[in-house]
Amino acid sequence: MIIYVCIGSSCHQRSSYHVMKELKSLIGQNGLEGKVSLHPAFCLGGCGDGVTIKINEEIISGVGMGNVADLFKARVLKTCL
Ligand code: FES
Repeated sequence: MIIYVCIGSSCHQRSSYHVMKELKSLIGQNGLEGKVSLHPAFCLGGCGDGVTIKINEEIISGVGMGNVADLFKARVLKTCL
């Protein structure tokens, strides 16, 4: 599984750096380093609604520190475990 986190200017201003750091930490905590790779990306087209990420081919907007862990559980853990 590949997760892209937008680091474009709008997402950067909305803490994409922290979202990326949290995703990296969640991947490590769950021992998924070999199954999930995390990459920065430039604008994914969802600028208006918080940080945008892409999991495989699905674009998800409105990601932030308040929902990234739940999102990880629902979209990543369920698929990988
Ligand atoms: S800058 Fe992140 S989606 Fe556009």
